[in-house]
Amino acid sequence: MIAIIDFGSQYTQLIARRVRELGVYSEIVPASTTAADLRGRGCQGVILSGGPNSVYEPGAPHGDPALLQGDLPILGICYGMQLMALELGGEVTLTTERRAYGPATITINPAATSPAAAIFAGVSPTTQVWMSHGDSVARLPAGFEVLASSEHNPIVAMGNAQGLISLQFHPEVMHTPEGRQMLANFLFAICGCATDWTTANVIEDAVKRVQAQVGTGRVICGLSGGVDSAVAALLIHRAIGDQLTCVFVDTGLLRQGEAEQVITSFRDHFRIPLVVAEARQQFLAALADIEEPETKRKRIGATFIRVFEAEAAKLAAAGGEIAFLAQGTLYPDVIESKSHDTQASQTIKTHHNVGGLPEDLSFTLVEPLRYLFKDEVRAIGAQLGLPEEWVWRHPFPGPGLAIRVIGAVTEERLATLRAADAIFIEALHAAGLYREIGQAFAVLTPVRSVGVMGDYRTYAHVLALRAVTTDDFMTADWTRLPYDLLGRVANRIVNEVPGINRVVFDITSKPPATIEWE
Ligand code: XMP
Repeated sequence: MIAIIDFGSQYTQLIARRVRELGVYSEIVPASTTAADLRGRGCQGVILSGGPNSVYEPGAPHGDPALLQGDLPILGICYGMQLMALELGGEVTLTTERRAYGPATITINPAATSPAAAIFAGVSPTTQVWMSHGDSVARLPAGFEVLASSEHNPIVAMGNAQGLISLQFHPEVMHTPEGRQMLANFLFAICGCATDWTTANVIEDAVKRVQAQVGTGRVICGLSGGVDSAVAALLIHRAIGDQLTCVFVDTGLLRQGEAEQVITSFRDHFRIPLVVAEARQQFLAALADIEEPETKRKRIGATFIRVFEAEAAKLAAAGGEIAFLAQGTLYPDVIESKSHDTQASQTIKTHHNVGGLPEDLSFTLVEPLRYLFKDEVRAIGAQLGLPEEWVWRHPFPGPGLAIRVIGAVTEERLATLRAADAIFIEALHAAGLYREIGQAFAVLTPVRSVGVMGDYRTYAHVLALRAVTTDDFMTADWTRLPYDLLGRVANRIVNEVPGINRVVFDITSKPPATIEWE
């Protein structure tokens, strides 16, 4: 295991993903973690992340000093480098007037002789890197040597004989093209890690954990139609078989074909006990005449909980107590919810997750994806036989199509939106573009405009298409879809979907817009 000590860098998660992509398990741990904790957990190496602070700032996180005195190999990145330099008696200068941000060219020191020089094995003698820092190391700590320099900075990388290494730049970002090689060198040449973080091992490990947690108890798992809950259910079923019952609440707010797919895949193909709660009318009734997006979210959330609880109670009455509830919580949610504990962030949208249940439920949570990133969950889904289009499905908001029908939600409007959305998504698949896009969907607006079809005047609704490119859904850019494709999609929608006579394409980024319209 490689521990990544989080000093608050926007790239901390990315470091963890890069390490895992190289086949080594990594975990993000808080700055307060001690060297003894890490030793006890079989940690083989430590990465000190970057961070927004300056090492001299009062209150700047310093981590456990015993770490740098111990014998675990450590890679300091950016803030992590300055910290290493300062703690070991080097000197750091504040370079506020010359903040380095962006690409830089570095030259590897060919005369470096310490074992730390292995960090650059196989890397070109001069190479591009990505800088993002204010401070820099002005004098090396005793026993260190310079491993690389740039035009403006004589010490962009340093290391010593004990396997302490620091980089002033970010090897984890793609703007450092040889960064992957550097991280691989750290993991394999310096820490001696093995590549045992494979999909097969991850599945085996998750299965064992679920068995240990659940024993002979019963588990209930809500399926949303998305990849996370499906993979959680498949893993749990592999671990405990029919002690698991899945519940699918059919809200009537899913995309075309999704509800049917949940039912046929899980019941017929995987043969997992599945209860379907047909609740379309209940959701429509809860949404009747509601136009305000947050009210929609609240009503959907409350209705979902009522229906789900009723199903759980029926199951318990029929087959005995159900002690566990499965959830498809992912590692980024775990990391984010921790850091958000200390940050007052304004609620833009409540993001009520359908499937997100109240805390006073008397279940113990089973979360087999709690330490996994989305790409790992997809790989597991594929290995466990989840249909490919399900594995690669774009994220879908809990309140579903209800927040893509702008204004009041009716059965007819949902049907219109579903038909148009299916045409758009099908065209993206056909053009081979679907996987590159973060999220793509149609939005039915309440605006009506005049058109002409054949010899008739029409007065029908405007449909908007949205496609965004994003890494984290916190910021997003609109996807530059080919004009021809947009033209074909617009044409098909207007011809095939009654009630729509005009199609527009949303070219707003986030911020200032959000991804969804409501
Ligand atoms: P926004 O619209 O805030 O969306 O830019 C960011 C991401 O969150 C999804 N989203 C939701 N997910 N419940 C959810 O589970 C919600 O109420 C909700 N609202 C937005 C959105 O689809 C995008 O992926």
